[in-house]
Amino acid sequence: MTENDLKQKDIDPPFWAFPWPGGQAIARYLLDNPLVIKDKYALDFASGSGIAGIAALLASARHVDFNEIDSLACKSISLNIMANRLNLSPSILEENLISNSARRRPKKNGWETILAGDVFYEQPMSKNIIKWLLDKAREGTEILIGDPGRSYFPWGPLEKIAEYSVETPQMVEGRNEVVTGVYRVKPK
Ligand SMILES: C[S@@+](CC[C@H](N)C(=O)[O-])C[C@H]1O[C@@H](n2cnc3c(N)ncnc32)[C@H](O)[C@@H]1O
Repeated sequence: MTENDLKQKDIDPPFWAFPWPGGQAIARYLLDNPLVIKDKYALDFASGSGIAGIAALLASARHVDFNEIDSLACKSISLNIMANRLNLSPSILEENLISNSARRRPKKNGWETILAGDVFYEQPMSKNIIKWLLDKAREGTEILIGDPGRSYFPWGPLEKIAEYSVETPQMVEGRNEVVTGVYRVKPK
């Protein structure tokens, strides 16, 4: 199916069909440093295929909420959890957590860590996402961001804690490998 076919059928681009560099870098970081996530209650924000959250579960996170706005992505997360032989029924939040209505809701989730892989690729969305992540950081949540330096990446408040060269489909990035950082919010 081509991109035009998808448009005609009103289907979003299949962002869930492959692991983006940002998600891959977070996954590598968590698998290499499992103590960072061990026993933590985590949110994989904008999960796509679920790669970062699945790595968190494999590294012994206590619980992971996956979050997506694309219902096909939500289905792919369930399939990828099964493919990784994780014997659990996944918690998948299909909603826009950064929307004004969601933010107004007096809901406390208690996430200790939020994972956000490759989410800074569109301008207005990037601005809203970093604002939401910084609010969560102020509430005491650890934020881990994976990003290959996309156009709208918010360099200012973040510091790099790891860097990997990750494989990527030529068709998507125009190259086979891309250097990708893992970042956290700079401590005040
Ligand atoms: C570039 S993909 C990254 C997917 C995954 N994190 C990874 O690194 O492989 C971005 C994903 O963000 C999702 N997304 C965009 N806006 C969102 C929002 N407000 N809330 C949740 N997911 C969102 C899209 O549906 C898409 O699957």
